[in-house]
Amino acid sequence: MQYSAYYVEEKDGAFSASISKLELKKPEDGFVQIKVSHSSLNYKDALSASGNKGVTRNYPFVPGIDAAGTITDANSSQFNEGDEVIVTGYDMGMNTPGGFGEFINVPIGWVVKKPSNLSSLEAMSIGTAGLTAAASVLKINESSNQSELPVLVSGSTGGVGSISVMLLSKLGKEVSALTGKASSVDFLQSIGANNIIMRDEYLEAPAKAMERPLFSSAIDTVGGNVLSKMLPQISPHGVVACCGNVAGIEVSTTVFPFILRGITLAGIDSAESSLEFKIGLWNKLAGEWSLDLSSMVKIVTKENLQQEIDLILKGGQQGRVVLEHGE
Ligand SMILES: NC(=O)c1ccc[n+]([C@@H]2O[C@H](COP(=O)([O-])OP(=O)(O)OC[C@H]3O[C@@H](n4cnc5c(N)ncnc54)[C@H](OP(=O)(O)O)[C@@H]3O)[C@@H](O)[C@H]2O)c1
Repeated sequence: MQYSAYYVEEKDGAFSASISKLELKKPEDGFVQIKVSHSSLNYKDALSASGNKGVTRNYPFVPGIDAAGTITDANSSQFNEGDEVIVTGYDMGMNTPGGFGEFINVPIGWVVKKPSNLSSLEAMSIGTAGLTAAASVLKINESSNQSELPVLVSGSTGGVGSISVMLLSKLGKEVSALTGKASSVDFLQSIGANNIIMRDEYLEAPAKAMERPLFSSAIDTVGGNVLSKMLPQISPHGVVACCGNVAGIEVSTTVFPFILRGITLAGIDSAESSLEFKIGLWNKLAGEWSLDLSSMVKIVTKENLQQEIDLILKGGQQGRVVLEHGE
């Protein structure tokens, strides 16, 4: 049997993608087979799709770090055929073919039963971006910081950023959204941002060793000079959840925010989190932290994926892109 996939090939050092027919293999021992109904586009997928060998070592390859669908070969007693499931992260979409194909074979230990009150479309609207936002909010909630100052979210129109804004707003926090997109002010207000800060203006003055506290905590999805700038602006015992690097991998700081204000720089790695932790996040996002993301989701087919990949690589996406596989 054959299935269709967004398939990236390497030829003479150049990478190109096509919608190809691939041969469906039986899952090995310890693996299940899933018919994928939906996937989603994350920044890491765009890196894999464009030949970034730090993400995907070998091509040809099918990217897609998120997948939701139905078990078609349970291959164990843990699942039954027909179970609706979600897979996010681990090696899927990096070196294990991922959700941009209509079928995946993945280790049983990566698979979560989909909460019954979430559709596959809703689950993939959340996807890795939503799990990362939720893991970041958990870190902030764990802190002893009681400040009424706003929480800063960088890359706020992106996948992780926009879900972070919505979640923090739902939880009653005042949210300052940092963005490079002047055209997205209405969007950011519509998802709960109280203040919008333009990135150019924010970065105009160089970072100082210490500044007056401006934010209680922060979710940083971009790294680099943006992260360097915010660390001295966090109030005592605040948390900066560090989850992304689109602005750069280097951070310039002094020890002052840590030793004079006791702030925490908390690393987030949602891909490699334990399955138990992911199940806890899915239950929260299906329950007390549920969000209606429909207004920020663009639904696309495999044929339309390339233009969305090009846009995310330029930092131009707003909200989430969900890939819907046909029947
Ligand atoms: N640690 C983890 O577990 C984890 C999980 C998921 C994603 N991530 C990382 O988180 C980051 C965001 O992922 P995503 O899927 O949300 O991507 P995304 O949708 O492309 O969002 C990134 C946003 O960052 C801003 N941005 C883009 N280029 C920038 C630049 N040069 N300088 C400053 N800001 C820039 C843009 O928002 P504005 O225009 O609004 O500023 C953009 O929309 C990526 O680095 C990704 O690898 C990490």
